[in-house]
Amino acid sequence: MRTQVAIIGAGPSGLLLGQLLSLAGIDNMILEQKSKDYVLSRIRAGVVEQGAVKLLEEARAAERLHREGLVHDGTEIAFQGRRRRIDFKALTGKVVTVYGQTEITRDLMDAREAIGAETVYEAADVALFDLKSDRPRVSWREGGETHELQCDYVAGCDGFHGVSRRSIPESEIAAFERVYPFGWLGVLVEKPPVSHELIYVNHDRGFALCSMRSTSRSRYYLQCRLDEHIDDWPDDKFWEELVRRLDPAAASALQTGASIEKSIAPLRSFVAEPMRYGNLFLAGDAAHIVPPTGAKGLNLAASDVHYLSHALIEKYKNGSAKDLDLYAAKALARVWKAERFSWWMTQMLHRFPESSGFDQRMQAAELDYLFSSEAAQTALAENYVGLPY
Ligand code: APR
Ligand code: PHB
Repeated sequence: MRTQVAIIGAGPSGLLLGQLLSLAGIDNMILEQKSKDYVLSRIRAGVVEQGAVKLLEEARAAERLHREGLVHDGTEIAFQGRRRRIDFKALTGKVVTVYGQTEITRDLMDAREAIGAETVYEAADVALFDLKSDRPRVSWREGGETHELQCDYVAGCDGFHGVSRRSIPESEIAAFERVYPFGWLGVLVEKPPVSHELIYVNHDRGFALCSMRSTSRSRYYLQCRLDEHIDDWPDDKFWEELVRRLDPAAASALQTGASIEKSIAPLRSFVAEPMRYGNLFLAGDAAHIVPPTGAKGLNLAASDVHYLSHALIEKYKNGSAKDLDLYAAKALARVWKAERFSWWMTQMLHRFPESSGFDQRMQAAELDYLFSSEAAQTALAENYVGLPY
């Protein structure tokens, strides 16, 4: 078998890249380890920058997002009983769209099926070969048989635990990492949200977030310990703890109910450099992880795919490899700024177990400054709505 670009992973990165390449007439094949249903059962964040919306439009997969997505002009930050609204639109002229990543994945899968591009689901033991040559190969097992695909380029879009980054010799890649000493316990519930915008809460008992998927479905998070398990958190206990961390107005507007999903996610900052090895290019979570506090995971995957799709199209249409050579540096420049923002938001809003009185006063001063300075609010807003690319 032969294709131009072999894409590993059918998450948002791989599907978006595949769609943009197919629409530009570049042949590609996606190899995904899990089943389609499994990929669609993963619940992830849901705040989409305008740049990512534009890319989904280019991929012809934004119709439902425009119909069902909620446009948010701002967000709220709560601290010591006060709530401050950060008005993205007034401060930056930009907005974000609240629309679940799972729905984006579904829309991209539908768009790919509509144009007849090929995806192999349940591709086991994917392995990459000859990445430094101009004829890389990818093999996988499917129904007891081993298959092989020859290509010009491999796009490693297979997330943090994927095979692509691990196929790069250790001497050729450097990893930079911070693991945070807490997790997020998330609950999805079929009830209207407490407020029409998100509320990020810094509380003595730990961080909390009130988010949503639609006007009738809410998503809530509580900072929890890493050694906790979802069985330690029956619904009643979750709601009780959330109420404790909310201000009285938010607490009284909270509509609780039976959770339809509950999970714990650890928080990590991670970047692998460079995002290229020979003819293998990494994109999305395969190359970097951000803690969810800044809602940047999906949006960074989109900017990587923007740079990579343009570089590949330039190569196939005009024969120039210049943009492919610049890909890693361009993508990483934006990645590190989003890493900084996500780290800063995490640092400002969570309780750190080892934090001293000095650290806590620094956090209070940071929030007091944010609440009182338009310049500080503009800096938050500009990063939250997404830096340009
Ligand atoms: N072979 C083939 N596919 C694989 C392999 C493998 N060895 N390992 C992982 N995969 C698949 C996963 O099953 C998954 O469907 O690669 C896909 C990677 O998708 P994501 O983890 O969603 O990563 P990405 O597409 O880069 O999207 C980034 O998703 O994880 C969130 O917070 C993250 O919002 C961000 C966004
Ligand atoms: C979510 O809705 O899941 C969500 C929203 C904002 C974040 C993180 C997660 O910062």
